Order: sequence, then structure tokens, then C-alpha cells
Amino acid sequence: MHMLIVLGSPRKNGNSEIMAQHVAQGIEKGGGTVEYIRLNSLNLSPCQGCGGCEGTGNCVIEDDMVDIYERVDAADRVLVVSPVYFYGLTAQTKIFIDRFQARWSRKHILGVRYRQEEGRKGYLLSVAATKGAKVFDCNLLILKYFFDALDMAFADSLLLKGVDHQGAVRELPAELERAEAFGRDIVTGVR
Ligand SMILES: Cc1cc2nc3c(=O)[nH]c(=O)nc-3n(C[C@H](O)[C@H](O)[C@H](O)COP(=O)(O)O)c2cc1C
Repeated sequence: MHMLIVLGSPRKNGNSEIMAQHVAQGIEKGGGTVEYIRLNSLNLSPCQGCGGCEGTGNCVIEDDMVDIYERVDAADRVLVVSPVYFYGLTAQTKIFIDRFQARWSRKHILGVRYRQEEGRKGYLLSVAATKGAKVFDCNLLILKYFFDALDMAFADSLLLKGVDHQGAVRELPAELERAEAFGRDIVTGVR
């Protein structure tokens, strides 16, 4: 089982990334493999809404997404990692997601399905500074429709409230253990 971890925070070694590293440890201890994409280091243009993908299923923009599409297609599991920014995803993560309009077009306009029978799964890892009851609602809804466009099940989410300063989650060993257990559960198929 191979997982692609998509890091959406601009902050290196931030709370979401540290949690993702512990998920990765759980996956590797369980015999799976992981690879990372750090969105903030890439050249990614936002979707232009041009409709170019509606005829071909492919995006007309030639930037680092070309490689990302291939890596997402090749993965058995995809973990999208983003802190909450103004009750949503980071801009980097939203650009990544919007560019999958090309996959939405492929599925819903062209009727092309991809690895549909293989039980591929997607997950959200999100962190937030506050403890608002609805702080993850937008991100959960976006991820539901993102994974649907990819013919993947949105299988589960790992959410952590109340972490703000860089690396704050290191002071919460129970949360790091929860992240590792989340990774182990993905390998065993519990999640
Ligand atoms: C631009 C910006 C917007 C934010 N908006 C929210 C918010 O709406 N709700 C919240 O609880 N935290 C918000 N935060 C706090 C981050 O979610 C928090 O610091 C998180 O731990 C950052 O994760 P990271 O270390 O992985 O980057 C915001 C932070 C920034 C920089």
C-alpha cells in the first residue's frame, strides 16, 4: 500500500506536517510506503475556469501539476494535509484541489472512470488554533467532493484543534501517538 501525502501548509515543520510525519511512521511500521509533495515549494497556477479540460479530461496549464496528476493516479491512498485558514483550506491546498476539475470533467462530462474498483481511499489531516465546533466543516465538505472526483472514497479524517504556534503539537505526545495509530489503521484497512 502506497500513500501520497500532500502537505498544504506553507509552514515547514508545522503542526500539520508533524502530525503527517507520525501518520507516515505508522504506515511504514505497518509495511506500507509513503511519499510527500510539498505544495508550497511548487509552481502551481490556480484553475482558470477555461473549460479546456471538458473536451479532453486534461488541464491545459503546464506547470508542476503535470507531475502531481501522475503521482496521485499512482497512489493507493492520498492524505491531504492542511491547517485551517479562515475556516477553510490553505490557498496552496485549494489551488491543488481546484486543478482536479480536470478529473471532475473526465468523470462527469466524459464518463471516464479511473481505478474505480480498486478501493482507493483518501483522507484529510487538518489542524486549527481554535476549538470552534465547526472549525473543520468546510474542509471536510471540500475533501468529500475532491475525492469523489477522483473516484476515491473519502475514508476518514484526522483532526486536531487547539494548536497554534509552530511545533506546538510536539507538546502533545498523545496526539502524535494518535496520528501514528491512524497510519497503522490505514495499512491494516481499519480506516
Ligand atoms: C492565515 C491564517 C488563517 C488562520 N485561520 C484560522 C481559523 O480560521 N481558525 C483556526 O482555528 N485557526 C486558524 N489559523 C491558525 C492555524 O490553523 C494554526 O496556527 C495551525 O496550527 C497551523 O498549522 P501548521 O503549523 O501546519 O501551518 C490561521 C492561521 C493563519 C496563518
